Amino acid sequence: MAYSDKVIDHYENPRNVGAFEKGDDDVGTGMVGAPACGDVMKLQIKVNPATGLIEDARFKTYGCGSAIASSSLVTEWVKGKTLDQALDIKNTHIAEELALPPVKIHCSILAEDAIKAAVDDYKSRHGATEQAKAG
Ligand code: FES
Repeated sequence: MAYSDKVIDHYENPRNVGAFEKGDDDVGTGMVGAPACGDVMKLQIKVNPATGLIEDARFKTYGCGSAIASSSLVTEWVKGKTLDQALDIKNTHIAEELALPPVKIHCSILAEDAIKAAVDDYKSRHGATEQAKAG
């Protein structure tokens, strides 16, 4: 099966690989696995507490080229977004951008799930402040 140029580009030059320092309170971490293939993706977002915007992101993916490309792409896409905007990123956008074939769609779903998990993690640990603001 042939990978698209964009997949190969992200695979060969992945953006934002790595992890943030442990204990950083502004970081949300999502860790998800694909039952279909056993691939695992860890995605982190770093939120600016003053603006509420995601200012940086990191990922580590143990998986296929499409999974690596999908996670690399979304770390670029989430930067500058609010948490809610990040939740609007759908796997269909990723699959379209990377021209993924049907058999590789689940790799982009993994990336969407990883963002959601990272945002959920961040929100769950900052729920108290959000409630305080809302109340
Ligand atoms: Fe499973 Fe790509 S083959 S994430």
